[in-house]
Amino acid sequence: MPKNLLLTRRQALQLGLGACAGLVASLKSKDIYANLKILALDDPSRDFTVSQGGSLKERAAAKGIIYGAAGRYPDFVLNPNLTACYARECVLLVPEWSFKWFIEWYPKWPVANHPLRPSPESFDFTAADWMAKFAQTHNLLFRGHPLIWQVSLPPWFKETVNRQNAEKFMVEHIQRVAGRYAGKMHSWDVVNEAINIYEGHPDALQTSPWLEFLGPNYIDLAYRVAAEADPNALLVYNDFGFEYEDTNSDKKRAAVLKLLERLKSKGTPIHAFGIQAHLSGRATSSYKKLRKFLSDVASLGLQIMITELDVTDEELPSDITVRDRIIAGVYEDFLSAVLNEPAVKTIITWGLSDGYTYHTDFHPRSDGMPVRPLPLDTDLKPKLAWNAIARAFDNAPNR
Ligand code: XIL
Repeated sequence: MPKNLLLTRRQALQLGLGACAGLVASLKSKDIYANLKILALDDPSRDFTVSQGGSLKERAAAKGIIYGAAGRYPDFVLNPNLTACYARECVLLVPEWSFKWFIEWYPKWPVANHPLRPSPESFDFTAADWMAKFAQTHNLLFRGHPLIWQVSLPPWFKETVNRQNAEKFMVEHIQRVAGRYAGKMHSWDVVNEAINIYEGHPDALQTSPWLEFLGPNYIDLAYRVAAEADPNALLVYNDFGFEYEDTNSDKKRAAVLKLLERLKSKGTPIHAFGIQAHLSGRATSSYKKLRKFLSDVASLGLQIMITELDVTDEELPSDITVRDRIIAGVYEDFLSAVLNEPAVKTIITWGLSDGYTYHTDFHPRSDGMPVRPLPLDTDLKPKLAWNAIARAFDNAPNR
């Protein structure tokens, strides 16, 4: 029997007791093998024990690593218990929404929406200023995400921005936003997700109004304007899809490396590369090609940041014990791989608690159970994922 279908006695018992009825149903389909394969991802020999004491930020800092997380303005305003966790665990904060041009609002929230760009002529900095003040009050490094992206654009954008005025809109946005927080920012994702290997554009550039109206040079322009607006911030190119050994990941890595080489050769003021790292609990990897890619990026003189780390569990078994163990294993394996690259200086999870993750809406589980992709559970208690991240920091080489 192939290795990855071998089950331990415990897993077989779990499968037998826990999924008896499900087993009958799934025997009719190939799910049984998928299930066995998933369960085989759970290595019972891993216990994820951690040494006593030390929050994630403390364990990271002991190795010269910055650890932080993304957070949402309404969650912060409404949940002091949540924000206390950020103050305890994080040394960096990135607003998940407040620097996006526009974000859909959840009517359930008793907190008014403050989209950054309510109209072509106006800016609403209420949410971003609140988050900046929170970061300052709690001595957190503050990170902006993103200045230029083709997603989360306001309803007025499409009928307003055109070939004639696109440069004015881009330059003004960067100058007003990056300029307002100049000197206070750890880093900015100046451009987000500019490469798409599935569309067939030259250089795999992502379809975007910025590309359509300004051509490929919009990227270089954005960084030059940002560097002028805030000479102190690390200017980052941020993207996803680099972690696995498959051919699509090969293509993405090659296309982004080419973009970074091109920018560096033009003297574009770009200082770091951000890997989002939205990982799947279902996928395993040797991370061999990722490690080579990290080394190639580092050889361009770029710092590397893991910017949106989480591990989705929507395809994992319902059993929370098994799910948490598989997720923890992915966290530790991935972080152990990337932290072997000295240029990796910053690790950011896309949220801190399962109660506030975008995967609830974007990647829900078919069994309707709450998703569990982050270090803290919905009661703000550390999970095995927290242990796994702590272990990776504890075992990481010093920077
Ligand atoms: C997501 C947010 O988490 C969601 O709440 C929002 O509705 C859409 O954007 N890559 C990115 C992030 O760069 O900005 C995205 O964040 C997740 C994917």
